[in-house]
Amino acid sequence: MEEELIQIKNSAVSLALDAKDKKELDDLKIRFLGRSGRLTLALKELSKLPKEKRPEVGKLANEVKNTIEETILEKESQVTKQKSQELKEKIDISIPGIKPQIGHLHPMTQVIYDVVNVFKGLGYQTADGPEIETDYYNFEALNIPKDHPARDTQQTLYLDTRNAKVNPGEIILRTQLSGMQARAMEKIKPPLRVIVPGKVFRYEQVDASHGFEFWQLEGFLVDTNVKLTDLFGTIDYVLRKLMGENIKLKFATTNFPFVEPGVDTYIECTVCKGKGCSFCKMSGWSEIMPAGMIHPNVLKAVGYSSRQWNGFAFCIGLSRLVTLRYKMDDLRLLTNPDMRILEQF
Ligand code: DAH
Repeated sequence: MEEELIQIKNSAVSLALDAKDKKELDDLKIRFLGRSGRLTLALKELSKLPKEKRPEVGKLANEVKNTIEETILEKESQVTKQKSQELKEKIDISIPGIKPQIGHLHPMTQVIYDVVNVFKGLGYQTADGPEIETDYYNFEALNIPKDHPARDTQQTLYLDTRNAKVNPGEIILRTQLSGMQARAMEKIKPPLRVIVPGKVFRYEQVDASHGFEFWQLEGFLVDTNVKLTDLFGTIDYVLRKLMGENIKLKFATTNFPFVEPGVDTYIECTVCKGKGCSFCKMSGWSEIMPAGMIHPNVLKAVGYSSRQWNGFAFCIGLSRLVTLRYKMDDLRLLTNPDMRILEQF
C-alpha cells in the first residue's frame, strides 16, 4: 500500500511539473484526485488494512494528497504567469489606439444655436415658416407692391403654378425672411420680439460670397416708443457676443421699403483684416446686418395701430457670419458635403 501511494505521488508530481497549460493540470486533478482518481481509489483500500496499520498509512496518504495538490496549484500559477507574459510580448501596448470617429454639428448649425441663444437672452422667441412662400408675404405685406423697383434686387425663383388654382407668379421660393414679419404679427399681439432662422433662395450668380441658397436670421421687435438707438444697441451687443468684443463695426444708411430709416451694418473683414480680399470685394468690410425701423405700412398691413406701436427689424446673414467666424474664404464650402472639409470646423 505504502509503495503504491509513493508511486502515485511520484507520477502525479512529475506529470504536473511537465504540464504545459491549465487544461493539462485540470486533467491531472481528475486523474488523481477526482472521484475515481487513482489516489481516491487507493484511499478506499485503506479500510481493508489491519487496524494498527491504518493510522500510519492514513498519514502517508494525506501527505501524498497534499503534495499533489500543492504541486498542481504551484504549477498552475506558474503557467498563468507565463501565459500573460507571452500575451504581453505579443501585444504592443505602446501602439496608439484607433480613435473612433465622432461626428459634430455642422458649422451652420453651431452658429444658429449660438445666435438663437444670444437672442433668447434678450427675450426673443423663435419662429419658423414655409420656404415656399406667397408673393403677398414675401413682398406685398412688406410695402413692396408688384411694380416696386426693390423687387429687382431679389432675384426671385417662381414656382410653376400651371396646375394650381393661383395666379401665375403668386407662389415663390422665399427670397428673404422678412416675410415672416407679417406672418408672425398676424398671430401674435404686440409687444413682441421674434427671431426666425432659415434658408432663403435667389437666382444669384454664384461666387465666393454669394450662393443661390443661403441662411439668414430675421428679427423684429414691436413695442411702444422704440428708438433707433435701441436698434443700434441691439446690433452692437449681438455682434460682439457672436464675433468677439474687439470687432470693428460701422453703420451706413440704406434703403429697404419695409424700414424707414434703413441701416446697414458692416463688420471689418476677418478674412483679410480690412486689407481687402476677394471675399469682401477688396473693400475690407463685409455687410452683415441690414436693419431699420419698421415702416408704418408694414404695421398697418397686419392691423397694428402705427400710432400706438413701432419697432425695428434686422437681418443677420448667417451664411456670411459662419464664413467670417471660421475664416472660410468661400461660401460654397458650407454646402460641400466633403467630410475632409467639414471635419475642420
Ligand atoms: N430682407 C432683406 C434682404 O434679405 C434684409 C433686411 C433688411 C431685413 C433690412 C430687415 C431689414 O429686417 O430691416 O435683402
